[in-house]
Amino acid sequence: MDQPAAPPRIGDLAPDFEARSTVGPVRLSAHRGRWLVLFSHPADFTPVCTTEFVALAREADAFARRGCDLMALSVDSLFAHFAWLRMIRDRFGVEVRFPIIEDPTLVIARAFGMVCAADRDSGAVRSTFFIDPHGVIRAMTCYPANLGRSIPEMLRILDGLQAVDAKGALAPANWHPGDPLLEQPGHDLDAVFDAEEATAWFLRETGPAA
Ligand code: BEZ
Repeated sequence: MDQPAAPPRIGDLAPDFEARSTVGPVRLSAHRGRWLVLFSHPADFTPVCTTEFVALAREADAFARRGCDLMALSVDSLFAHFAWLRMIRDRFGVEVRFPIIEDPTLVIARAFGMVCAADRDSGAVRSTFFIDPHGVIRAMTCYPANLGRSIPEMLRILDGLQAVDAKGALAPANWHPGDPLLEQPGHDLDAVFDAEEATAWFLRETGPAA
């Protein structure tokens, strides 16, 4: 896998890769046609990561209903992943069935900018990439090792991206499904002067998102 000069940004094609995972070999580009949430975690058998995996496994159907696959990644070996998943099943009663990739050389983590090029381990990594059905990175989040991600916020990001795509519209602050979206602002000076209200040419609701 080529190492990019700079980490990918929103709007870039996600770097393709093949890897071993807990459900067999995976290839990122095999998910074209569906949404994909690719996320890294610092290490198996750590407290915050364990809570994230339990929460994500419990919400796996909510991602599936949105046409979205989940794919996790860490530096740990496949056998560490297996042992951790068995422990999670026994302790919390949930089976993590989405793939967890092993990335012992950090080659994938580096291609995605999940670790700083100078880092010798993946201890600082809690990155999430929201990849659309065309393989384009549409949103990314990065949390520190000591703060777990919000699964409702991950679902809200997906809902927001899918809603703005469906309507060609914009999602305002604190948007949730069912809330109005915003129209794209105009680029026409006559519309600016003709608008009845001073903000109406650039800040206008479209009605509830479907
Ligand atoms: C955790 O998931 O709890 C964790 C991972 C790496 C460093 C510190 C905490």
